[in-house]
Amino acid sequence: MGPGVLSPCLLLLWVWALPAGSVLPPELSKTEVTRMFKDFMIQFNRTYRSPAEQRRRFGIFTRSLLAAQRLQETELGTGQYGVTRFSDWTDEEFRGMFRSPPPPTMRQAPRFPRKKLPLSCDWRKAGAVTAVKDQVGDKCRSCWAFAAVANIESLWNIHFHQPRNLSVQEVLDCSLCGVGCKGGYVWDAFTTVLHKGGLTSEDAYPYTGTQETCDSLNVLAAYIQGFQTLPGDEEEKKMQYWVIQNSRGEDWGEEGYYRLHRGSNACGITTFPVTATVHRVGAPEHKVPCPP
Ligand SMILES: *[C@@H]1O[C@H](CO)[C@@H](O)[C@H](O)[C@H]1NC(C)=O
Ligand SMILES: *[C@@H]1O[C@H](CO)[C@@H](O)[C@H](O)[C@H]1NC(C)=O
Repeated sequence: MGPGVLSPCLLLLWVWALPAGSVLPPELSKTEVTRMFKDFMIQFNRTYRSPAEQRRRFGIFTRSLLAAQRLQETELGTGQYGVTRFSDWTDEEFRGMFRSPPPPTMRQAPRFPRKKLPLSCDWRKAGAVTAVKDQVGDKCRSCWAFAAVANIESLWNIHFHQPRNLSVQEVLDCSLCGVGCKGGYVWDAFTTVLHKGGLTSEDAYPYTGTQETCDSLNVLAAYIQGFQTLPGDEEEKKMQYWVIQNSRGEDWGEEGYYRLHRGSNACGITTFPVTATVHRVGAPEHKVPCPP
């Protein structure tokens, strides 16, 4: 993991680490594509309302595969492209899924002392990253809330050694901008957490995947002092990729994670990197170092 937390909303359309042996073959025959489409329908539980719709989706799927193949041929050295659960979606559908309101103006972070940055850093090895979550299906565009909550969970681990699963549902239900399942930005979530004075635990306020009435009577499990943007560059170091946790379960990508090329602003990853800030007045802080 790089410094700070990178939004899982920055999904790359076709990137998916395929199990060994299932990388796209150089020549795709119609039979091969048909077989892959059938596998896709089974794997992602697809049913279409008519044979015509199925043919249309097969066409989109085929174009996705061809695009994935082109990307694979020109990729930057770390990506593998293939079939994902979005393979039968048009570009418009995909963009619509992740569309968010325009960003607010935000204070730029102070520059960090660069000399102290390690060559590589994997917060998972310090036990600082909580288990991969699953936002379940495509009906609720809750990735922004999952990203923010995972950021806060990790910060509580790093600063206070206090592992906890926090309530994503509370962020969805109580979001100030009323974005909820319609999508949002990570800072919408932080603003909500600040406004509420903190978040309760996942156990106390479990995820349902639909926006419901805000319940504010829960015991706080964590809180934040604020949030800030991180430097928007990708300083060249040995590690040429970011490892990013998604919220699509452990079956997705590389056990729920994916790697994104570092140094080329892949998927706009440097555009609005943002993190919460945590600090507890009077509490001892034993910040964990990040293992390489
Ligand atoms: C597959 O989709 C059907 C209809 O959308 C749904 O009823 C069923 O629960 C789904 N199964 C799985 C395993 O997701
Ligand atoms: C968080 O939830 C996961 C299951 O999603 C569980 O395995 C883990 O033990 C929980 N962590 C804590 C600190 O409760």
